[in-house]
Parts: sequence; C-alpha cells; structure tokens
Amino acid sequence: MAEPRIRYGGDYNPEQWPPSVWAEDAHLMQEAGVNLVSLGVFAWSWLEPQPGRYDFAWLDQVLDLLHAHGVQVALATATASPPPWLSHLYPESLPVTAEGIRLAPGSRQHYCPQSTAYRNAAAALVRRLAERYGRHPALALWHINNEYGCHVRECFCEQCAAAFRRWLQARYGSLDALNSAWGTAFWSQRYGDWAEILPPCRAPTAGNPSQLLDWRRFCSASLQECFALERAILRELTPGVPATTNFIGFHRPLDYWAWAETVDVVANDSYPDPADPEAHVGAALTHDLMRSLRAGQPWLLMEQAPDYVQWREHNLAKPPGLMRLWSYQALARGADGLMFFQWRASRAGAEQFHSAMLPHGGTETRTWREVRALGRELANLAELAGTRVRGEVAMLYDWESRWALELEGRPSRHLRALEQLRACYTPLYARNIAVDLLRPGAALDGYRLVILPSLFLMREELGPQLARFVAAGGVLLVTCFSGIVDANNQVWAGGSLGSLRALLGLRATEIAPIPLGEQRSIRTADGHAFSCAVWAEVLELEGASAIASYAAGDYAGQAAATRYAYGAGAAYYLGTMLDAGGMQWLLETVRIESGLTPPLTAPNGVEACWRHGPGASYLFLLNHTTGAVEVPLDSPAPDLLGDRVPRRSVRLAPRGVAILRYLPLDHQPAA
Ligand code: GLA
Ligand code: ZN
Repeated sequence: MAEPRIRYGGDYNPEQWPPSVWAEDAHLMQEAGVNLVSLGVFAWSWLEPQPGRYDFAWLDQVLDLLHAHGVQVALATATASPPPWLSHLYPESLPVTAEGIRLAPGSRQHYCPQSTAYRNAAAALVRRLAERYGRHPALALWHINNEYGCHVRECFCEQCAAAFRRWLQARYGSLDALNSAWGTAFWSQRYGDWAEILPPCRAPTAGNPSQLLDWRRFCSASLQECFALERAILRELTPGVPATTNFIGFHRPLDYWAWAETVDVVANDSYPDPADPEAHVGAALTHDLMRSLRAGQPWLLMEQAPDYVQWREHNLAKPPGLMRLWSYQALARGADGLMFFQWRASRAGAEQFHSAMLPHGGTETRTWREVRALGRELANLAELAGTRVRGEVAMLYDWESRWALELEGRPSRHLRALEQLRACYTPLYARNIAVDLLRPGAALDGYRLVILPSLFLMREELGPQLARFVAAGGVLLVTCFSGIVDANNQVWAGGSLGSLRALLGLRATEIAPIPLGEQRSIRTADGHAFSCAVWAEVLELEGASAIASYAAGDYAGQAAATRYAYGAGAAYYLGTMLDAGGMQWLLETVRIESGLTPPLTAPNGVEACWRHGPGASYLFLLNHTTGAVEVPLDSPAPDLLGDRVPRRSVRLAPRGVAILRYLPLDHQPAA
C-alpha cells in the first residue's frame, strides 16, 4: 500500500448491475481520478451461490476491466453478510440476543462470531479468493469482512457461552482466581464449577461489573478471532499483500488498540452529520484516533458519504463544498486515501436512498461534479502521501475504561468517557494544537502535555509512569473520576485516584453530583467566573493548590480544580465538569504552562494542521465557516490548491481549503 499517491475511490458493488454497466463504471472511474475501489464487500451469495459451488467468472471480468483502466482493488473477503443458504442449513449460525432471541437473516451481519458453520464457510471462501486473485495485478489490499460489530456486537448462544468459559479459563486459570477477580462474594455469586458461568444474559437487575467488563473484552476478542482467521489464510497464501478491515471511529464494542496491532493499515468509516454545526470537531478527534492507532502511520478513510446518508431520522445533504472540505480534513489529519460508500447508487436494497459518487441522476449532478473535481485535485497532491502529522499533546483513551465506566450502577449516567474526552479536546482543537490519542501505558516521550479525561479504570503502573513524566518537566491534566477501579473493575483500596494521589497532591474524598439542570458557579484564582454542572467531587488538598473553587452553595470555597508542582513539572486535577468557557480557560492554562504554541493565528472556525515529509512540510488550512476569510501567514508559501504563487496571506472561500508548502528553509515557526 505504500504508494506515492493519494488513494481515491469507493465501495464498488458490480453484482448489483448488469455487465453492460461495468464498462461505463470503469470509464467514469478513470474520469473521476478513481485509483482504488473496495470490491465485492457484500457479494458472498454471488461468489458462492450454493454451498461449495463458487462462481468467480464475473469477478474475473471486473478485476481485469478495472486493471485495464488503472484502478486498483481492495478486494473484499465478502464475509460480512452470509448467503441465505448458510443460515438455512445451519440455523445455529445466527446470533442470539441477551433476551435469548435468535436474529433472523434478511439484512446483514447475521452471524454468530463463534459459529463453526460460519467460520468454516468464511474460511473456505477466503481461501478460494486468495488462491484465485492473490497474484492479480489489480490487487492492492485485502478488505477483510466489513465493520465488525456494527450491528451485532455480542451473541449469547451456547457456542458463545462455551467460548466465554474457555476464554475465562485461559485468563484466570482457576475458579478461585475468577471468584476473587469478580468479587463473587457479593450477592451470592460464588462459582463452584466452570459450567455454571454464563454470558450476562437478561437478568432481574444489574449484573456483576467485573463479569460485564470481561464479557466486553471477550466479545471484542471473539470478533477479532474471526478477523484473525481470515488474516491467517491471506498471510499464508498472499504474504506480500497488506490487509485491513474498516473501523468505525470510537465504536464502543471493539478495542481498536488491540485490533490495530493486527491490521497492516488502519482504515476507517466516517459519517459526520451535516446537521451538526460541530461535526467537524468530532471528525477531527476521530481522525486523530485513527492516526494514533498505529503510532502515526498514514491511514485510509475507507468510507464517507459523498452527500446524504439514509440511516438517520432526517438526513441532510452535504451543501456545496462540504464533501471536499471534510475530505481534506481527513487528509490534513494523516489519511493517505479518501474513499466513499459507494461508487454507484443502488436502485434496490436497504441503502437505495444513500448517496453515491455516481448518483441515480448520473453524471449531470452536483455530487458527481464535486466527486470528479476532487479526484482531479488529488491527482496533483501525490507528494503528500506518506507525510506525517506530529501530535504534541497525548490524550489517554481506553476502551476498557470506557466499558467499565459506562455500566449500570455508577454515581451518574451523565459521566461518559467520550464526552469527557471531547470536552478536553475541543479547546485544543480550537487553538490548532495537534493531539495524539494514546493507549494508557504507551511511551510518553516527545509530549509536553498529557491528559487523562476521566480515566476511570487505571492499571497500577500508570501512576509511576505519569509521575516520572511530570517529575521530568511534563504537564499533566487529570479530570474527574479517574483512577477509580483496577483492571478487574474493583475499586482501588484506599480511596479514589489510586496511584495518582501523591502526584496530584490531593484526595477526592466524596462524590457529590450536582442536581441535573443546575449550574454551579466557579471562581478561578486568576479572577474568571465560570459554571459547572452534573459532577462534583470534594477534594482534600495534600499539597496541591486550588486554581478554581466553588463560589456558592454547600461547597463554597472548596477546590474544584487544582495545580500541584511536582518535580520539574506540574499536575492539574479537575473534579467537576466545567462549561465550555471554563474548559477553554483550563486547557489554555495547561497549554501555556507546557509551552505549546498554535501553528498560526487563525480566525475562528479555521482549522490548521501540519503534515511533515522528508522534503517539505505542509500546512493545511480548512475554513469550516460559510464566510470567506483572510489568513495571514508567518512566511510566504505557495498554495497547492491555488495558483501556487507564494503569498504572505491566503484567502479562503466559504468552506475553502488551502495546502501551503514550506520547504525546510522557508519555514520559520512563530516565536
Ligand atoms: C457502513 C457500511 C457500508 C454502508 C454504509 C452506509 O459504513 O460499511 O456498507 O452500509 O455504512 O452509510
Ligand atoms: Zn454465538
């Protein structure tokens, strides 16, 4: 996949069209600058119309045709939607819900991840595809399955129950260890035989939090086994061909830290809602996660909508220029390819009202014109491929912690991991500070600011690692309800904050949530007033000093946010949820203390990101507003999307984009 060009294309489903249309497809792909398509993602029942009877003639033809038109292929293994014969012959291959209902076929993803029938049939298909197409010159990438866990994230059938028990046996070794890890002394849950252990099916009330956390881990691993099964066959038969599967951003059920280790390139599907005026902030955060999953390696935007989707309650179109702007945003944040769902709009099926690169209306449409124009622009941007974004701030994010935090039986359902992450991210985004997401425990070298947004589950080693980071001059910000439970989802002995207590110079002695709908006033030590809501903790300072305090009410005068000088650095703690202005103030405080400067003074709503290559650095400017803006530059640079004449300032049209190229000597960073 290491290609000196930007990948451009989409899902291509030729089985939905008569062969007479394929030639037109190939020709139009060429016209639009398409150089990669994800082929046959849902084609299983066409590739294997009857059990063990394969039909590859049509696919042979399509691959040859694409190759002749210079279009490479991310060939799908087509295992995401089993053919009707599979569930007809093997009803036990269908997944079962927590209530014990077996889901029917008729849509897609109707397979139990542990089903032997499903796995055998999938493996046989993958083997044949690899044997047949492994050396085809159009093959660039394997696209394994599709969006694992998108619809069916867990299955409660007998096969899954047995697999869960095996997984637990491997993890704990003995029932004593399991009983202790799960705290089964509570509510008489002590297990005396492995056979007694079940998945967390629908029960009278809240289940065991340690069991639930292990179940989430198991479900992610169980789907990952399906991926690994296919990956192993492809590696055996086509060792030189990279493989991926498309992720779904911060998708809750799958621990993508673990998954990312086993893909060759991270691929993601991104569907920000055009109706959300802040959609670009969430998209930026998700792109940053994708770049971070494999330590900065360029990633692939595998799917985005050329225009509208059909799966929200009310689906807005992307107004002119928005598709282009959001495409460049992914590029700015480290993508080396931009792809869509899908190439040609389907006439039939559940997604007949989903947009496509080639709409029902054909080439005489705005969408087509925008798609073609973007493809042509990208053809001139090959030099960006392989360049890297360098994050300056590390935000720790962990699926396990999110699973543990968002169970029933917590002090508030309104403390959510992603919302806390986003609250810390937004002010940094607004200042154009580049953020990497890190798995807790990852090396912190090179970062000056580390943030733990409500990292509820914390392993013991993290405290000492963070202490070394701060002692050496780093700045740390920890937000509310961090360091509460261990890897078994059991509360750390000795009270909150676990091993962070000495580093933060305080103890959180009480959780005192704020009535919903109520705002409390906060005053900062440097004279600002903000409000906070939902969550509050009573902080007992053990060396830290208050930088913000509650201004009224029962807790008047008590610390809401603190700073503790530790070694050569400083550790901050926030024990509540501040309003947007308050978060801006807090993140500015830690940003300034860590010496991080924005890349330039950009008007509000203009996003700026650097990508760095061996020969040049590129500053992307993205205007997320609907007005034109003028952006002054520190030093003149040519705009790769404009006339390429170096100028001291850039004019961005509404939703406009510029990519400024700086050669090593041009660029004098702001003092
Ligand atoms: C997902 C799937 C695609 C398609 C799109 C529609 O991303 O991977 O097959 O269903 O959604 O938005
Ligand atoms: Zn199952």
